[in-house]
Amino acid sequence: MPGRVREFATGRHCARQALARFGIPPGPILRDAHGAPLWPDRIKGSITHCCGYRAAAVAEESSVGAIGIDAEPHTALPPGVLGRISVPYEAEGIRGLLRERPGVRWDRLLFSAKESAYKAWQFPPPWLRGGGDQQELDFRDIVVSFDVARGAFMARITAGGPAPTEPHLAGRWLAGVDLLVTTVVVPAVPAWTGA
Ligand SMILES: CC(C)(COP(=O)(O)OP(=O)(O)OC[C@H]1O[C@@H](n2cnc3c(N)ncnc32)[C@H](O)[C@@H]1OP(=O)(O)O)[C@@H](O)C(=O)NCCC(=O)NCCS
Repeated sequence: MPGRVREFATGRHCARQALARFGIPPGPILRDAHGAPLWPDRIKGSITHCCGYRAAAVAEESSVGAIGIDAEPHTALPPGVLGRISVPYEAEGIRGLLRERPGVRWDRLLFSAKESAYKAWQFPPPWLRGGGDQQELDFRDIVVSFDVARGAFMARITAGGPAPTEPHLAGRWLAGVDLLVTTVVVPAVPAWTGA
């Protein structure tokens, strides 16, 4: 089976296994015009695949407003890519981390965090999206800051220019020997409601 077909099939296999935990029987998981998976009613989810790793995460929309997951090889980004996917102060922070904590490829982790945030932002819950139209995002529209000690990060959606109301997406990261994994999970209702 060609690599991409196998990747697609095994990603779907993970997704069906995850859906089965909610009692959802196996069925096709189609894609929208942008390539995003079309989940069953009342389900939010995300799929990722990379070099020998496939994963899917799903949840009921009563508890989760959006999910994005991403896996990347634990290797440096190709030369020049960091500058293209980050704003200057963000890139500066990543270079600092690479110097001070060289055990993690922070440049690749930044890329992964942005991919996870991008996937989650495609289908944000109404409370997060506000009244405006959904905007196409570029890598530089998502500004990430890492919490190194807690394995967490915050992804700020800056499309439309800096503003006090910029949406923030909370994420988690994990660095293994060969793999970097990031996730963004947006709650169904904002945390400040206490629901
Ligand atoms: C879509 C995208 C996020 C996928 O990430 P990736 O690291 O290349 O690949 P991954 O294996 O992690 O993820 C692929 C899966 O993401 C999902 N996906 C694809 N497009 C998606 C979208 N628009 N929204 C959410 N999920 C999407 C699919 O399930 C896909 O797997 P499948 O085709 O087998 O179903 C990436 O290709 C991308 O960024 N595209 C360009 C869009 C862009 O401008 N991004 C800026 C990021 S800030």
